[in-house]
Amino acid sequence: MKIGIAGVGRMGAAIATRLAACGHAVAVWNRTPAKAKALEASGVSVAATPRDLASASEIVISMLTDAAAIDWTYRGADGLLAGEVRGKLFIEMSTVRPEVEKALAASVSAKGAALIECPVGGTVGPAKEGKLFGFVGGNAADVERARPILNEMCRRVEHVGTIGAGASVKLAINLPLLVYYQALGEALSLCRSVDVDPQRMIDIFADSSGGPNMLKVRGAAIAATLQGKETTPVTFDVDLIRKDLRTMLEEAAGLGVRMPLTASALQRYDEAAGNGIGKSDATMLPAYWLKHSRM
Ligand SMILES: NC(=O)c1ccc[n+]([C@@H]2O[C@H](COP(=O)([O-])OP(=O)(O)OC[C@H]3O[C@@H](n4cnc5c(N)ncnc54)[C@H](OP(=O)(O)O)[C@@H]3O)[C@@H](O)[C@H]2O)c1
Repeated sequence: MKIGIAGVGRMGAAIATRLAACGHAVAVWNRTPAKAKALEASGVSVAATPRDLASASEIVISMLTDAAAIDWTYRGADGLLAGEVRGKLFIEMSTVRPEVEKALAASVSAKGAALIECPVGGTVGPAKEGKLFGFVGGNAADVERARPILNEMCRRVEHVGTIGAGASVKLAINLPLLVYYQALGEALSLCRSVDVDPQRMIDIFADSSGGPNMLKVRGAAIAATLQGKETTPVTFDVDLIRKDLRTMLEEAAGLGVRMPLTASALQRYDEAAGNGIGKSDATMLPAYWLKHSRM
């Protein structure tokens, strides 16, 4: 299958290498061309514009930061929708509000093409291994058409409703996790005086009601940051967490619901970014908080 991928940041690049390894003819486009060029070694070709990418592909995947990036990449003068795209299938995977996906589906449909959304759970490692969790929204026939590719990217694919439903579920899934990083920092500040090394303490959390699933996967990295080490490579940075939390709060305001914990977590991470860790990995947040928690 000829697959185009627009946006090869951390997640898009991992998905591109995964789909190339599955035997597809993968082409990529990225706003910053060097990131696309770096993928040529994995057998991936590079398109000069989103428009060229769409015209060379049967299925087009987009994995971009936010709504502004989607707007530019799809609707720009040389955007994905600028050329002839009748009959093509688009799979939009960014973490954005449901209304962004709904508006995009209408733009795509006006060009005679189809769009489903598949925002994902899981980070760069699972993306490389095809072990993401896909929260899919779209009409059933389009989802079935996309399913073979979704199954190559994801360990589990949940079709949760029409377009926008996937975005709602994705924002909801991320919320407890993102608030948790701050909760863990605060929890650890209660046992500063306990003489247990960080690796063991994180293991205690991970094996009890003090830890979500994430701790089983990222616990070792968090423990290392508590011993003063930096997490590299960065897979999910603090600025992306802030973008996700802002998106959740905008969505909550639109729905007329209050989310005080989420708002408070965003304030803490804005402060952390102000102190220079916006581009650091999320696993740095509990250690950051231990350094900054004193009244
Ligand atoms: N990282 C994770 O663990 C993770 C997990 C699940 C979901 N997500 C979601 O997946 C999406 C991508 O995340 P990521 O970690 O891959 O981020 P990333 O490494 O920062 O990549 C972002 C991509 O969006 C592009 N972009 C940003 N603004 C743009 C604009 N105005 N016009 C065109 N392209 C633009 C970037 O292009 P440049 O290279 O030119 O900047 C890059 O290709 C986000 O919505 C994120 O919330 C991330």
